[in-house]
Amino acid sequence: MSLYKTNEEVEIQRESCLLVNASITEIAKILKPGLTTLSLDTLAETFIRDNGGTPSCKGYHGFPYALCISVNDQVVHGFPGSHVLKEGDIITIDTVVSKNGFNGDSAYTFILGETTPEILQLVKVTKEALYIGIAQAVTGNRTGDIGYAIENYTYGQHGYGVIREMVGHGVGREMHEDPQVPNYGRRGSGKKLQENMVLAIEPMITMGSREIHFLDDGWTIVAADGSPAVHFEHNVCVKKGKPEILTDFSGIEQAEKLNSNLNSSYYSI
Ligand code: MF3
Ligand code: CO
Repeated sequence: MSLYKTNEEVEIQRESCLLVNASITEIAKILKPGLTTLSLDTLAETFIRDNGGTPSCKGYHGFPYALCISVNDQVVHGFPGSHVLKEGDIITIDTVVSKNGFNGDSAYTFILGETTPEILQLVKVTKEALYIGIAQAVTGNRTGDIGYAIENYTYGQHGYGVIREMVGHGVGREMHEDPQVPNYGRRGSGKKLQENMVLAIEPMITMGSREIHFLDDGWTIVAADGSPAVHFEHNVCVKKGKPEILTDFSGIEQAEKLNSNLNSSYYSI
């Protein structure tokens, strides 16, 4: 499996990246208290299939759903189910779509209604950390430059927990390809980045400690200290000088601002 893609392959993958974000946009439009997380999964799976894609998570090592939905202290890989969303919930939607042989993998965290200034800050900083990491995804840098930048901002400057057990990764024909892209690291360490590698960059950040544990379902990862967790993810094509983000949050962000059930006030702090 080549670590690099042709320009043609990148263009095909871009379609999957746009579809994965379009599916999260559909959720952003309708999120409100009272919905079950399972209903979001159904909606997204239908949307993905109607648009010529397949949900890569479903059946991946036995994962039963199209979406990972992780609420509050759940960090990643939460199961959609009978949980009824309520005011104040922090909801991460993480999903992977395959279309024409390539995967797009993206995650976005929403806040439902009223919350605390501390949680708004956590969401803002984690999203900023994503872009700070992405800025390092240029030819000649190494994966450790991305991890260092993310950890230095989130833990170094804000004291947040940086999850280590789960990492970013290459993404393409396979959901998870080399290289691994940890959200921590040393500058100048790790795999060298070269033009047209496509990386999933995805800080997973808690307000407290970075310790995690698994729930009994064998998938859901929660913050061991019960603190809130946030996760944003883009797919990025490594380029000289300036990385190219293949996924696109703009539709999600527009829906987030238009949906009065969602708290978008972190944009203005
Ligand atoms: N974006 C998630 C990841 O890279 C998607 C996992 S799908 C699952 O880990 F099936 F593993 F949950
Ligand atoms: Co991923």
